Amino acid sequence: MKTEILNGLEPASIERAVMALREGDVVAFPTETVYGLGADAMNSVSVAKVFEIKKRPRFDPLIIHIGQKEWLGTFTRKLPTEADKLIARFWPGPLTIILEKHPVVPDIVTAGLRTVAVRMPSHPVALNLINALGRPIAAPSANPFGYMSPTNAGHVARMFEGRLSLVLDGGASTFGLESTIVSIQGGRTFVHRHGAISVEELIDVVGMVYEKNKDGVIDSPGQLPYHYAPHKPLTIISGLEEIRTAASSLLAFRTPPKTPLSRHMKILSPAGDLREAAANFFSYLIELDRDDIDIIYAEQVPEAGLGKAMMERLKKAAKKRRVITR
Ligand code: TXA
Ligand code: MG
Repeated sequence: MKTEILNGLEPASIERAVMALREGDVVAFPTETVYGLGADAMNSVSVAKVFEIKKRPRFDPLIIHIGQKEWLGTFTRKLPTEADKLIARFWPGPLTIILEKHPVVPDIVTAGLRTVAVRMPSHPVALNLINALGRPIAAPSANPFGYMSPTNAGHVARMFEGRLSLVLDGGASTFGLESTIVSIQGGRTFVHRHGAISVEELIDVVGMVYEKNKDGVIDSPGQLPYHYAPHKPLTIISGLEEIRTAASSLLAFRTPPKTPLSRHMKILSPAGDLREAAANFFSYLIELDRDDIDIIYAEQVPEAGLGKAMMERLKKAAKKRRVITR
């Protein structure tokens, strides 16, 4: 199977993708966070194909992407006040909300949970596609299980060569990090996954937020410690002097004061801007994960705003090695 990349801004491409989705195929599409591997959320067999293509070792609930806020009434049950406020502020956009599911949502989408994760993306290609299909698209990030999320069409095609027929190209994802996932319980807003909407922005709307996994309970399988990992080992460093070998890649946060020892380097944001850094984050890490190196060094990112989400992903990538070598 050849993987075709079509320009998602052309109406004919959307038509082709909608036809494929209606026939039960899986289509990769751009969102403002990362690319998604989409299936018609109402078609259990198509959704099963997503798991198969992604090689997820077990079913893990998927986010349904809706085209209009009004669709919530069809696919979910109660809408807590806090969710309403968050939706008013952040939709369409990179916030996913876990809500009580309506029985029409197939169990394979939610892995049997009574809740469903929903978001309305802001990327025009994603919105056009969902609205042209006329129902939600269930989609995880378009990466093989355990690997990093792709933020451009070329990376998706490379990751799924031979296993995926169509990728809609919508350019580089502007946020470059997955959506922030929250749930509301007893009027409290819990963060399940840090992402493109910062905790500070959430607090601005709901006053206070809680961390979901402080007690070690894994509520979103995305919280497994080895998610988002490159193939090569990754070490977080706070200064260039910690680089031990030239056979390495360096993911620098900002322009380093001197030339590093590493063979390859990418600078997330020359001036140290967190938003620019986040937009480049996964695509640079994927490019630095090369055969001719032994290790990836990642410079520490300030843990505020979007930096928190990036550090969460770097720490998980760094942990993977420890898990494997133990
Ligand atoms: O930005 C994003 O969120 C991207 C784009 C494509 O929308 N999607 C994405 O999907 O990152 P995925 O499947 O890679 O991550 C979704 C996370 C998973 O960790 C899953 O376990 C969690 O959301 N999740 C989904 N439904 C859930 C539910 N009902 N309860 C708790 N966690 C849920
Ligand atoms: Mg993912």
